[in-house]
Amino acid sequence: MQHTRIYLIGFMGAGKTTVGRSLSNKLGWVFIDLDEEIERREGRPIAKIFQDHGEPHFRKIEQRCLEDVSGLERAVIALGGGTFINPQNRALAMKTGLTVWLKVSFAKVWHRVKIDGTRPKFGDKDQVERLYQTREPYYALAKVHVSTDTSTPEWVANEIMGVIEKS
Ligand code: S3P
Repeated sequence: MQHTRIYLIGFMGAGKTTVGRSLSNKLGWVFIDLDEEIERREGRPIAKIFQDHGEPHFRKIEQRCLEDVSGLERAVIALGGGTFINPQNRALAMKTGLTVWLKVSFAKVWHRVKIDGTRPKFGDKDQVERLYQTREPYYALAKVHVSTDTSTPEWVANEIMGVIEKS
């Protein structure tokens, strides 16, 4: 296996965190959830960062965090739903690891994600659907695509294991 880092990419509700945990256990690698890492560093929830300083500030912290974790060895890194949209973030992830898109339909997203105030970009259905559509072409630039619509996180993690063992 030539990779030492795996980046999980995809829209909110794709299963990046659950699949990431399962995959890191199977590989015996460290698991980093970029959102959790941001919250830990900033000492407050993402919603509060958005509220206090706005999205551009959040995106700066997100980029810095990604730059830092992109140096870790043997790591599964779950990105936030917007991380891979930034061209610099995208180039960094592509250069430093295997990029895996966890593909999910909008219907599943809408069913899975609760509107509980923790995700500032998730609210009005039409807006979320538009965001979903504008982001799809960027996610599609990831090297590996795996659908998470009907599969368990365990199955998706095994599927990714299969790909990395061959690569
Ligand atoms: C965001 C997705 C969130 C989090 C932030 C912004 C987005 O991550 O980074 O709320 O722009 O799609 P998840 O995809 O892990 O929910």
